[in-house]
Amino acid sequence: MIVERVSVDDIQNLRVRVLRKGTPVTHAHYPEDSYADVVHLAIRENSEICATSTWFSKECPEVPNIPALQLKGMAVDDSLQTTGYGRALIDAGLALARERGAEVVWARARDSALGFYEKCGFISVGDGFIDEPTNMPHHIVMKRL
Ligand SMILES: CC(C)(COP(=O)(O)OP(=O)(O)OC[C@H]1O[C@@H](n2cnc3c(N)ncnc32)[C@H](O)[C@@H]1OP(=O)(O)O)[C@@H](O)C(=O)NCCC(=O)NCCS
Repeated sequence: MIVERVSVDDIQNLRVRVLRKGTPVTHAHYPEDSYADVVHLAIRENSEICATSTWFSKECPEVPNIPALQLKGMAVDDSLQTTGYGRALIDAGLALARERGAEVVWARARDSALGFYEKCGFISVGDGFIDEPTNMPHHIVMKRL
């Protein structure tokens, strides 16, 4: 699997298809998409982007004052889920985080995806919360590098 860096426009369609399914929201723009250091990772299948995640520097509220990278917008096309694309994106993001000297990688994870993050070596921390705009239960997950 080849992980490449793409633009936010390249991943909008996939983000909306996977992450806004079952919600009335028709876009998936994040304020962090305009951060100076943001990186959008993607993997293609038959030249179409089928997996994506977005990475940027942001302190983790559970471990303040430690250099950290947050990941957001983790989405794999429905037909390809659980075949290794998500883990490949995490591996590439962890490499990026190490290059940047981050000591923590973290995400606001849907509870339905906690098992995935745990398989990738993350732990769940803090109380659960309902996140906008999906209204789904979430936890912060983090991994120390
Ligand atoms: C969650 C998601 C990004 C994971 O990516 P993926 O490509 O499906 O995951 P992988 O195939 O790399 O899975 C790695 C491991 O996690 C497991 N796994 C994947 N999704 C899981 C889930 N939702 N719950 C529990 N375990 C999961 C896989 O079975 C695999 O286990 P293994 O190492 O024992 O084989 C993807 O399924 C997805 O887009 N889901 C819908 C949107 C979503 O929930 N995004 C995350 C928002 S925080």
